[in-house]
Amino acid sequence: MNAHSDPDLNIQAPAYVKNARLIAWVADMAALCKPARIHWCDGSQEEYERLCQQLVDAGTFKRLNPAKRPGSYLAWSDPSDVARVEGRTFICSEKKEDAGPTNNWMAPAEMRATLAPLFDGCMAGRTMYVIPFSMGPLGSPIAQIGVELTDSAYVAVNMKLMTRMGRAVHDVIGTDGAFVPCMHTVGVPLAPGEKDRTAWPCNETKYIVHYPETREIWSYGSGYGGNALLGKKCLALRIASTMGRDEGWLAEHMLILGVQNPEGKKYHVAAAFPSACGKTNFSMLVPPKAFEGWKVTTIGDDIAWIKPQADGSLRAINPEAGYFGVAPGTNMQTNPNCMLSLKRDVIFTNVALTDDGDVWWEGMEKDTGHLPEHLLDWKGQDWTPQIAKETGAKAAHPNARFTAAATNNPALDAAWDDPAGVRIDAIIFGGRRSTTVPLVTEARNWQEGVYMAATMGSETTAAAVGQQGVVRRDPFAMLPFTGYNMSDYFQHWLDLGRQLEARGATLPLIYCVNWFRKDEDGKFVWPGYGENMRVLKWMLDRLEGRVQGRDTAFGVAPRYGEINWQGLAFSPAQFETVTRLDTAAWDEELKLHDAHFDKLAHRLPGELLDIRAALAQRIHA
Ligand code: OXD
Ligand code: MN
Repeated sequence: MNAHSDPDLNIQAPAYVKNARLIAWVADMAALCKPARIHWCDGSQEEYERLCQQLVDAGTFKRLNPAKRPGSYLAWSDPSDVARVEGRTFICSEKKEDAGPTNNWMAPAEMRATLAPLFDGCMAGRTMYVIPFSMGPLGSPIAQIGVELTDSAYVAVNMKLMTRMGRAVHDVIGTDGAFVPCMHTVGVPLAPGEKDRTAWPCNETKYIVHYPETREIWSYGSGYGGNALLGKKCLALRIASTMGRDEGWLAEHMLILGVQNPEGKKYHVAAAFPSACGKTNFSMLVPPKAFEGWKVTTIGDDIAWIKPQADGSLRAINPEAGYFGVAPGTNMQTNPNCMLSLKRDVIFTNVALTDDGDVWWEGMEKDTGHLPEHLLDWKGQDWTPQIAKETGAKAAHPNARFTAAATNNPALDAAWDDPAGVRIDAIIFGGRRSTTVPLVTEARNWQEGVYMAATMGSETTAAAVGQQGVVRRDPFAMLPFTGYNMSDYFQHWLDLGRQLEARGATLPLIYCVNWFRKDEDGKFVWPGYGENMRVLKWMLDRLEGRVQGRDTAFGVAPRYGEINWQGLAFSPAQFETVTRLDTAAWDEELKLHDAHFDKLAHRLPGELLDIRAALAQRIHA
């Protein structure tokens, strides 16, 4: 071991840890990071509670009023550490072109040389937690194992809710099973005797680094969300997408839901939306009254791993075991199942604290009919409706989050933990667009669906640091999450479709949706939320061949009369407002597609340009 590490450091693994590579790696990383202690997480409830108490003692957690929110905690992050840092996220493939123009890149050797001094001694004075986790049901042929080393107890307890974490994972990897090594530090070493000066240590310098060829993750400087909970975006999307490319499957930024009709026939739908566009809401949708007997159930709210089967069908699992969702805007009207999931055993981050020890965020006033008189906002400062009016101060940060186990969800699908996953019947792509893109259209074939997904755009939100409200192209909602060249990723989708078709498989139907179109007064026209069931039902009717739709330049669209309007006043004129294809707007849109494709020109599948040409022709036909 390195001469500088603490000679008293006990690196001894528990007897149940038998994987030689894991034990050697932990020893190497301890020698590099020089923690004061090593804690091998067993994933038990007792361990979870002990770590939460430790976080309370350190001031990172506040225990919420057990009468209001049993078993729950609130953390306030450093105000500089509130979202994923896409500008500091790197894909370090050997060749730059393999990362492609949408990713930040640095040569692996150069990045390793940059990170080595940062990680040297980075955990001094702290505990290094060894967190074994399974992304996907334990032992599922679709699942992958990761091990995260972190100096953050906040990360350890969040990983317990977000993944299958603990001792059972060691049984899966046995003596020589594979795992993805995930290194994480907040980057604030402590000198001997030094105490933390803040309850949320983090470093101004941040690096979120992926080595796709060697399948490693190294994260430095942030304790927040996807920067730090490395199973989620780093492993389950960036690293897993490269595994999928190499092995013939898909790792996608998609929710998975089950939808059962009153006759008991059940379908499974995967849907990709950019961050903070309502994926959690859609995955927990409560059908309106007119849909009596229909049931929507959640398999996953954020990520889907989809694998082709021998018969050509596609089966999907949710690699996660919990929800790390955006709190503001969530209430009993927008997402009742989510609110019910948050009743107990939740970790809240960056929401406001009420005077009676409960949590609050913007949107909750819709349930109570009034704003609270007084709160402590996410920065710990006094908040009143008057202060909010005068200063515009938000009580909760717009990217404030809840972490809750999937088992909290009353609408959880019975098959959510099934190692075989569920069969996917339809795939939806959607962005947040106030104009141009219609409410729903169906791609005429897989290739056209890939085009729709490849050209998806969305007005940006608070989930990532950066400018908000501008349209950015977010192909497949994977712009920040594809771990390799985006054009190769498009090709991978096209190739997969072709292979499945060659096997005679019926491919899932692909849909493009936009819940966010606005009228001339800037108001949303489509009511969204539970009413999206009406669109979902139309898709299922299409799957069953019950409705014909009408051919448009941009896929097959519903006729007004094909949608069940019972219980909703939505006129043909309003329908026209959300479904119309405006030629001038589409001319502009096509120019933006061209600019987007120009950026991706190197290795861009020519097939997409052919589809673009046909689309332009139809727009003017
Ligand atoms: C998320 C995101 O947290 O997409 O899910 O940013
Ligand atoms: Mn997401």
